[in-house]
Amino acid sequence: RKTAAKEPAKADRAPRASADRIGRQDWSSWPHYDKAASGFRGYWYPVTWASHITGDPKPFTLCGEKITLIRDSGTVYALHNRCPHRGVPLSEGNQQFPGTVSCPYHGWTFDLPTGNLSAVITDGPGCRLTGKLGVRTYAVEERLGMVWVYMPIAEEEPHPIDEQLPEELVSNAFVMGGRFDPRGGNWRFACENGFDEGHAKYLHRTALWRLLKPMPTWNITRIVPKGRWIYRVQDEVYWEADFPGVGRWTNKRWWMKQPPEGTFNLGNTGATDKVDPVIESQDFPGFASLSMPGMLRIAYPNFMHYEFYVPIDADHHMYVGVMVNFKRGWDTLRFYGKYLGAIRWLFHGQFSGQDAWMVDVTDAPPEKLYRPDVSLTAWRNLGEEEYAKKLAAAGVIEATTDTTETEA
Ligand code: FES
Repeated sequence: RKTAAKEPAKADRAPRASADRIGRQDWSSWPHYDKAASGFRGYWYPVTWASHITGDPKPFTLCGEKITLIRDSGTVYALHNRCPHRGVPLSEGNQQFPGTVSCPYHGWTFDLPTGNLSAVITDGPGCRLTGKLGVRTYAVEERLGMVWVYMPIAEEEPHPIDEQLPEELVSNAFVMGGRFDPRGGNWRFACENGFDEGHAKYLHRTALWRLLKPMPTWNITRIVPKGRWIYRVQDEVYWEADFPGVGRWTNKRWWMKQPPEGTFNLGNTGATDKVDPVIESQDFPGFASLSMPGMLRIAYPNFMHYEFYVPIDADHHMYVGVMVNFKRGWDTLRFYGKYLGAIRWLFHGQFSGQDAWMVDVTDAPPEKLYRPDVSLTAWRNLGEEEYAKKLAAAGVIEATTDTTETEA
């Protein structure tokens, strides 16, 4: 339903969050972000590799909801993973008839596209419950070799998945390597960690990946909102590659102007004054970007790295780390060799394992922020504003003037 814009009383407005506000104790500046312990709803989430879903139903938990995924005649379906009879997971069942899944206990059988109870094997054709009961179904898409499930707000229709994915993945051919890794800790801590300016050089100081790729420091980056993304732009580092990629990524190292006196030198190769005109025009994203509902994007000059922090429940998340190279033909084999031989272990393994460890032990607020936490507060501001807009559009909350302004 449409809701009228409502002017909140001035005193009711939460002050805009900033890491400069000393002494913050809780997340009251981000009330919707604070409440989204089990994830932002109204988004698509990658749940597993597409090749892992077959005719045998498999269980998953997404945003605290138990679902089962099953493939039938090439199409993947998602159903609530609980038989309404006695609560047995449907993922324990199987396909007795095409287009259905049957509970293993008493044979209640559900139509995959609709979730309707279509037959009860142990009660025969005269069963009075068929057609009257059912289980909830979820929208499913396959993209990037993964199965994506839409977790709706109330009864809303799913939004087009391609509008949520990064444009370069929708429009270009690429080769990809990655891993799904279930981890402890709330998804928001994982998200904040991925974009955390303060941790890269310190937490990862012992990572071997660190020897291959320079880590940024917070004091030479700035955060810029652009569309639905926020970017960390590293002032001193420039790329040769044009952006967004259309498969013409160079294989060169980062170019770097001589760092100003007294600033930290990242140690990149090729110190030079060369500046790409695209960058000079400022129509250029930062090297680290974050978007709803928790999608990190690191733009290396010759490949892109994405991390999706998928909420399992309030205490667990799925880390989905994906490395993408815009290559075709034989070059894809070279990439796979590199990925399986090194990147998977060094980056998606050891380096990312350090993040997993920290996210798991991070505690809930109260907290005390310091200057580099500007990246955290920028992300929380984005999440709060975007999610409030989404909830208002779904009629779950009333739109505020602030929200309307953001939409404009
Ligand atoms: Fe599923 Fe009885 S519990 S059919």
